[in-house]
Amino acid sequence: IDLKDYLTMKIGGKAAYLVDITNKNDVVDVMNWVEEHQMKFFVLGGGSNTLAKDEGFDGIIIHNMIKGIEKTDEDSISATYRVGAGEVLDHFIHFTIQHDLSGMEAMSMIPGTIGATPVQNVGAYGQEIADTFVELTAYDTLTKAFVTLSKKDLHFSYRNSVLKHEAWGRYIICDVTVRLHKSSPKPPFYAQVQQLLDKQHVRDYTPQVIREAVIQIRTNKLPDPHLIPNSGSFFKNSVITTDQLNELNKEFPDLKGFVVDEKHVKISTGWLIDQSGLKGQKIGHMRVHDKNALVLTNVDAQSYHDLASAREIIKAKVFERFGITIEQEVLEIA
Ligand code: EPU
Repeated sequence: IDLKDYLTMKIGGKAAYLVDITNKNDVVDVMNWVEEHQMKFFVLGGGSNTLAKDEGFDGIIIHNMIKGIEKTDEDSISATYRVGAGEVLDHFIHFTIQHDLSGMEAMSMIPGTIGATPVQNVGAYGQEIADTFVELTAYDTLTKAFVTLSKKDLHFSYRNSVLKHEAWGRYIICDVTVRLHKSSPKPPFYAQVQQLLDKQHVRDYTPQVIREAVIQIRTNKLPDPHLIPNSGSFFKNSVITTDQLNELNKEFPDLKGFVVDEKHVKISTGWLIDQSGLKGQKIGHMRVHDKNALVLTNVDAQSYHDLASAREIIKAKVFERFGITIEQEVLEIA
């Protein structure tokens, strides 16, 4: 199996095995097989935020295709749904909008599956999955049993949860339960969204108008992975100390920091790359996207090595200019 066929960056070597799973019984069967054969495994959703190395993966890729949308609870202000991990995120968001529910509309058009969202607390334009997340069902490969993990268990933070660190590779997510609101989305909205709504003189904020605004912004800023291979934001935004920001602000008064805690702020890595003169630049076989410098696109790279060379050049340039080490956001199969 060529991993590059399953990854939107269209880079990566071969995997020894790949299996599609469509229900919980499949999970148990596959994991028994994995144990019997002492095999490594990796769970893949939409492949839009994942890279593979040239040496590929000497194990089994478990392609999560568990579907289903089921209402599990409802009251006067909210509706709760259990969603199969293999459901395409944007299909589910479309479904919530058709039911006039709010909570995920700003995450419209994010590629990938619902099952991938808790791993790194996927979010955009002012919403993240942590806001609506209730719990998930997963197969715990340590205890060999299905478990329910609550929001508390996952320790969500910016683009992060325990599933990306301490518990990486431990759980196979089967479904995610989210609670959506019957009330309309309330301002303040993400600045770019608000600007667009103001320009269009929109005053009646419905999930549908927010979705449409986000789709318009994303279409303008982010390359379509079907046309230009990419993995969305390639780097994370950067967390620096408040002192570092104060220093930077002497030279760059416009640079904004978003408070993380008492001593730390988050700044735009897109801005750092942009200010390092790299926006729109072709670096070897990759290109820094011309409309958002946080995105790296594959022009004609044949290998992970080509991608890694470009990544290291970008990291070095930003470090040279700002003394900040930027971090990759995209996950890797290993
Ligand atoms: N900026 C620049 N130059 C650039 C890009 C950004 O100066 O080339 C500055 C601008 O000041 C801009 C600010 O950065 O106002 C923020 O940019 P933007 O709103 O486009 O968001 P982002 O920080 O580039 C993050 C997420 C995106 C998400 C958007 C909107 C991460 C790693 N990325 O990007 O998520 O869509 O916010 O919420 O947090 C993804 O994860 O794949 C992804 C696309």
